[in-house]
Amino acid sequence: MDFSDQRRSYEKGVLDQQSVPASPFELLDDWMKETIEQQVQEPYAMSLATCGADNKPSVRIVLLREITETGIVFYTNYESAKGQDIAENPNAEVLFFWHELERQIRISGHIAKIDADKSAAYFQKRPHDSQVGAWVSQPQSGEVANREVMEQTFEQLQNDYPENSPVPTPEFWGGYEITIEHIEFWQGRASRMHDRIVYTQDDNAGTDSWITKRLLP
Ligand SMILES: Cc1cc2nc3c(=O)[nH]c(=O)nc-3n(C[C@H](O)[C@H](O)[C@H](O)COP(=O)(O)O)c2cc1C
Repeated sequence: MDFSDQRRSYEKGVLDQQSVPASPFELLDDWMKETIEQQVQEPYAMSLATCGADNKPSVRIVLLREITETGIVFYTNYESAKGQDIAENPNAEVLFFWHELERQIRISGHIAKIDADKSAAYFQKRPHDSQVGAWVSQPQSGEVANREVMEQTFEQLQNDYPENSPVPTPEFWGGYEITIEHIEFWQGRASRMHDRIVYTQDDNAGTDSWITKRLLP
């Protein structure tokens, strides 16, 4: 298959270095609100790239669950392939692509487990079946003989923890926060003259001060 003649012009917005807010968190909030207003499909889905000690990058989708004052939070199994990568190398990058708005956001920084109490509070808010599912998928990314084995484990756990009975929070499950150290906002423009504005922390001016740069597209 050859896709080399497929072209699209991006013309839905502009990004101007002079008028972006001083804090990238404000722009991130604004763009996130717009995805919701414009009914972007899966606005919280983000590609998460990790790289363990083998130096081989891995990428997969996870769901953004919170923007804090310092970074972004998602939840997963700590013993999964990504969890092992993170234990070996606590740096990660995530990517959002919202094609409806012709926008891309890249965020990178240090990644660390969040407080266990906060993870437990979130786990307890999840639907009962998702809670049971987290116990079934242990270790996430491990091999399973077939689907029946998974379904039998699910059924057995449904019996152990019937609907309306609390499901304990697994120790192997919880949130990670990526502290935003570098964030790039990309707005598609015509003629491949896209807007790219990157924010990095201004190390000389404290943690809440940011430098912006425009990058060539
Ligand atoms: C739309 C979508 C949302 C997902 N959300 C999550 C999530 O929030 N947490 C998670 O652990 N996996 C999520 N997954 C599954 C991951 O992409 C991946 O298959 C799983 O986490 C195992 O990844 P790993 O083997 O690299 O650790 C999601 C997948 C899709 C397609």
